[in-house]
Amino acid sequence: MDGNGRWARKRNLPRVAGHQAGTNNLRRILRACVDQGIRILTLYAFSTENWRRPEEEVTGLMKILETVIARELDELDRNGVQIRHIGRMDRVPPGLQQKIKHAVERTRHNDQLILNVALNYGGRAEIVDAVRAMLAEGLHPDYIDEDTISRYLYTCGLPDPDLIIRTSGENRSSNFLIWQGAYSEFYVTDAYWPDFDEGELKKAVEQYGKRERRYGGVNQ
Ligand code: IPE
Ligand code: MG
Repeated sequence: MDGNGRWARKRNLPRVAGHQAGTNNLRRILRACVDQGIRILTLYAFSTENWRRPEEEVTGLMKILETVIARELDELDRNGVQIRHIGRMDRVPPGLQQKIKHAVERTRHNDQLILNVALNYGGRAEIVDAVRAMLAEGLHPDYIDEDTISRYLYTCGLPDPDLIIRTSGENRSSNFLIWQGAYSEFYVTDAYWPDFDEGELKKAVEQYGKRERRYGGVNQ
């Protein structure tokens, strides 16, 4: 969900106004996902590197996220959305932590759409956490293969993403699902996240449908 800051700057608004606009965009995108048959959506909300931003922006963003969960939870639950969190909880403000835990608990039996919220998420941190957990459990090296590692990631039990969309024209992964995304299709659009709408999503999915996925092999 990139480009909130530039969206705001273009309108002479503070960066947090861009984050606000970005969260207001979530409803229509979730609805569009359900309409287009997407069953699992992961939103990159805040990275382990985003703490480097000015305190004012970080605090503002955390507040916005807290408000958004409080405001949207009833409807998400009603629509069968299962909310999950991927990332580290440690630095997340206690109020937001509590709201996330509550949302995850309340929606755990829903099955229309899995919504992974990547918050204080970093792909490298995730791999570090997986290695630590494997060592702590005393796993023997001979028993560690790619599936083992996948099972120790935050996304345990979920398939790898088919499509990764990045808004705002940046061509990099920025530490997002770096293990899981090894063979994901990438799609970059110039639209800033607050402007990314149903039509943009449809274009991305259509483009994805034309890709030939070979996973390093050759298609006959
Ligand atoms: C949103 O966009 C990403 C978040 C960390 C919430 P940005 O805040 O990165 O927007 P730009 O890149 O400055 O435009
Ligand atoms: Mg950015």
